[in-house]
Amino acid sequence: MAASLDGFIARRDGRVDWMETSDEFVGGDSMDPGFVEAFLKAIDCYVMGSRTYETALSFEAQGLGWPYGDKPVFVLTSRKLPRNRNTVEFHSGDLAQFVNGRLRSAFRSIWFVGGGVLSGECLRLGLADEVRYSILPVLIGDGIPFFEKLGRDVALHLTEVKGYKSGTVALRYEVRYELKTPNQPAAGSFVKGASREK
Ligand SMILES: NC(=O)c1ccc[n+]([C@@H]2O[C@H](COP(=O)([O-])OP(=O)(O)OC[C@H]3O[C@@H](n4cnc5c(N)ncnc54)[C@H](OP(=O)(O)O)[C@@H]3O)[C@@H](O)[C@H]2O)c1
Repeated sequence: MAASLDGFIARRDGRVDWMETSDEFVGGDSMDPGFVEAFLKAIDCYVMGSRTYETALSFEAQGLGWPYGDKPVFVLTSRKLPRNRNTVEFHSGDLAQFVNGRLRSAFRSIWFVGGGVLSGECLRLGLADEVRYSILPVLIGDGIPFFEKLGRDVALHLTEVKGYKSGTVALRYEVRYELKTPNQPAAGSFVKGASREK
């Protein structure tokens, strides 16, 4: 996800107006549309929390489009939510069982879109191989944290840092689960899809 420097992915009321930043980092990289296209193409499915889904629906209703194309989108929810395309599927219950038992056998690259509740759950349950964290050049003081109720330490290994002309810094980490059981290799993916070979 993209977050403010102080670690928030949205304001408490869900607004993301602060994402329109106006910084310029001389010497930063430009975002290559070809790279973005190839990157999105490599994602096999998306998983998101219900509040992120509701935000996506409201953006679509405002004419901003549906960013997930025709890829499968799995929405975690215990509620009955509107569904206006057949690529969307709802799921409730044990997240680890769903990811390990159902998604892993069907998809190679699984992208956990967010938000904070889902990303916290993912890391806590040991489901992520990688974290992609883009820091925007702004502080907002309060909001929804990137990792809600993590409840544990998670060691990371930094694998990539890119600074963009916009002042955004894109960080990529591998997750180092120190308490992995021998038959449970680091699983799933998070924010950036898993890249395990099938
Ligand atoms: N900055 C970014 O890059 C970025 C990216 C993504 C999202 N966002 C923003 O983040 C905000 C939403 O984040 P959030 O942390 O509030 O919520 P969220 O993670 O999107 O959704 C949380 C909700 O999903 C459902 N859920 C989660 N895990 C579940 C499970 N295992 N089983 C069943 N249901 C489950 C629960 O709701 P119910 O059961 O009640 O439905 C839970 O309250 C939005 O404002 C969105 O725009 C920002």
